[in-house]
Amino acid sequence: MITSGVDIVIARQEGRQLALKLGFSDVDQIVIATAISEVARNIVEYAKEGEIHISRVVNGSKKGIQIVAVDRGPGISDLAQAMQVGYTTGRGLGLGLPGAKRLMDEFDVQSTVGRGTRVTMRKWVS
Ligand SMILES: Nc1ncnc2c1ncn2[C@@H]1O[C@H](COP(=O)(O)OP(=O)(O)OP(=O)(O)O)[C@@H](O)[C@H]1O
Ligand SMILES: [Mg+2]
Repeated sequence: MITSGVDIVIARQEGRQLALKLGFSDVDQIVIATAISEVARNIVEYAKEGEIHISRVVNGSKKGIQIVAVDRGPGISDLAQAMQVGYTTGRGLGLGLPGAKRLMDEFDVQSTVGRGTRVTMRKWVS
C-alpha cells in the first residue's frame, strides 16, 4: 500500500533489489527505481492511496522486471495530454509520466475518470 513518502522509498528499494537480483546494471537499477518513484509519487499526490506490484517477468528468452501501479483515485481524463512533457494539474513539472516512459522499455497507462489509474511498465535485462 502506497500512501506516503515512506512507502515511496520502500517501493523504490524493493524495485532496486529485485533489479539487482535479475542482473540489471547499477545504472539500470537506479533507472528502474526512479521510474517507480514517479508512479508512486503520482499515487500519493493524485489518488492518495494505491498499490505497487513489482515482479519478475519472462517473455521467451527475455527476462525483466514488471511494475504495476494501481489506484482508485480520480483517474486521468486526457491521457495523451498527461503524457506530454510539462503537463501538470498539480505543482509538479509534468515530467513524471513521460520521464518514466522514457526510462522503461514498455509503458502502458489505463485510466477511467472516477475509477482510477493503472500504469504497467516493463524493462528487459540487456
Ligand atoms: N495516478 C494518477 N491519478 C490521477 N491523475 C494522475 C495520476 N498520475 C498522473 N496524473 C495526472 O497526470 C498529470 C501528469 O503527471 P506527471 O507525473 O507527468 O506530472 P506531475 O505529477 O504533474 O509533475 P511531476 O511528476 O513532474 O512532479 C498530473 O498532473 C495529473 O493530472
Ligand atoms: Mg508526477
